[in-house]
Amino acid sequence: MSLLVAITQWEPETWIERFRRLMPERRVFALGESFDAAEVQYVASWKHPAGSLAALPNLAVIFSLGAGVDHLMGDPCLPEVPVVRVVDEDLTNRMSEYVVLHCLMRLRQQRRYDEQQRQHVWIDDRFQPAAREVRVGLMGLGVLGQDAARKLAVLGFDVAGWSRSPKALDGLPSFSGEDGLEAFLSRTDILVCLLPLTAGTRGILNRSLFAQLAPAGRLGGPFLINAGRGGLQVEADILACLMDGTLKGATLDVFETEPLPPASPFWAHPAVTVTPHNAAMSDPESVGAQVVEQIRRFEAGEGLQNIVDTGLGY
Ligand SMILES: NC(=O)c1ccc[n+]([C@@H]2O[C@H](COP(=O)([O-])OP(=O)(O)OC[C@H]3O[C@@H](n4cnc5c(N)ncnc54)[C@H](OP(=O)(O)O)[C@@H]3O)[C@@H](O)[C@H]2O)c1
Repeated sequence: MSLLVAITQWEPETWIERFRRLMPERRVFALGESFDAAEVQYVASWKHPAGSLAALPNLAVIFSLGAGVDHLMGDPCLPEVPVVRVVDEDLTNRMSEYVVLHCLMRLRQQRRYDEQQRQHVWIDDRFQPAAREVRVGLMGLGVLGQDAARKLAVLGFDVAGWSRSPKALDGLPSFSGEDGLEAFLSRTDILVCLLPLTAGTRGILNRSLFAQLAPAGRLGGPFLINAGRGGLQVEADILACLMDGTLKGATLDVFETEPLPPASPFWAHPAVTVTPHNAAMSDPESVGAQVVEQIRRFEAGEGLQNIVDTGLGY
């Protein structure tokens, strides 16, 4: 049985070469090539064109080559087979690096010192809150959110989390569901969003949510860090909230439109840090090896891991 590599926006050739190397006994096809559809049992997808997997009669499993699966859930013709996503220690570590870095940047006011350096200005006003005085709220306590929460707590930040279902997380305060959202937001100085993009989370980072963040924290106003997906945020609301002080600053790795258009006001905004959707990249070798291992497990009857709940969309 064969693997179909269905990739757009990344180079399919390197993935094809990788899978052929990792599974020399199998046939590996690229979308667009001529192949026998009945032969395809597995698909490895990154942003396949909607509908392109619809006519594969023997398809058994779809593997997402990234941690997020919104690119799959958006396909109305997605075959009804198990969807497996990437859970990778290396990717998780990279995301925690990003979250820790940007929380520390805000705690230690690094952007202000960068600007002072550019202007050759020496101002040391000794305003330096301690990490324990700064409340970080993780929206999303999944694989990525939990790891970031633990690492922030080690640095002394006052960490809490919010998720759909209740979580016990090393004694850290955690809130869940609609009912827990207000209490979670009201104790948050730095809001870190690591939610998946689903019907239930699209546009969740909006003015009404920002208005519920702690107004009088030690950082002088709330900050947003979004490394989930651009569709989670309402960008007009972020800009308006930065303007009227509802938000003091934002670090954005993801955007409604990517690449971020040259005319976007985010590029030059003094309170915004922009990164090009690379908070946590997947290591292709590790992801390729995971797909191969999952196929082995599936065929040995050991069961697939990291199966997506397609009803919930993540
Ligand atoms: N920027 C990047 O480079 C990058 C890289 C990798 C991933 N990501 C993004 O990060 C996301 C999270 O990854 P992950 O591996 O941590 O996912 P995950 O393990 O599936 O965790 C998702 C978390 O979000 C919570 N959640 C989902 N829907 C919710 C809702 N409606 N209300 C409240 N909480 C909700 C879940 O709650 P429960 O715990 O109750 O299920 C869970 O805690 C991915 O989906 C992807 O979009 C970005």
